[in-house]
Amino acid sequence: MTIAPSSLSDAQIKSLAARIDRPIVLVGMMGVGKTSVGRKLAQLLSLPFADADEAIEEAAQMSVSEIFERFGEDYFRDGERRVIARLVAEGPKVIATGGGAFVQEETRLLVLERGIAVWLDADVDTLVERVRRKDTRPLLRGGNPAEIVARLKREREPFYAQAPIRTTSESGPQGETLRRILEALDQWL
Ligand code: S3P
Repeated sequence: MTIAPSSLSDAQIKSLAARIDRPIVLVGMMGVGKTSVGRKLAQLLSLPFADADEAIEEAAQMSVSEIFERFGEDYFRDGERRVIARLVAEGPKVIATGGGAFVQEETRLLVLERGIAVWLDADVDTLVERVRRKDTRPLLRGGNPAEIVARLKREREPFYAQAPIRTTSESGPQGETLRRILEALDQWL
């Protein structure tokens, strides 16, 4: 896959991939693009990809919205914690987590200890524009999505900031975001 001009060569990406000995865990707000960036990152590094929300849905045989509706957020967080612990234990791969996962202490400590957390960040306007494309997020249902996104971002930033790697994913080409993540991983490892 071509990522961006003046980016890492295939050989550099290969040598980086060979040094990855634990899961790369994407954290950050809903709408930032963790799933789509994660999928491409996994492809570039020839690693398996897992989306935590999808894994929760598979385990529960229910959509995330349905879990929230029928059992509430605490129940969802409990399943999320267990699913992420299982995914992290599986070794090197790229994991996209739901926006609230890294705020939960147990999950955050586990990811910080056993994985490489990458905070994917974007400004509120970009996030709001992206979350508008999907109406499946239970936390956005009870009010004004722009206000909820702004509040959650403010509340969650101190947690996301504990990730050792932070990169932005603004509206430009996704290749740029991937290149920045690869370079940050290269320096960090
Ligand atoms: C949530 C984000 C969602 C999903 C759930 C709760 C959150 O995932 O886990 O609706 O608390 O921010 P995405 O970040 O993939 O939208």
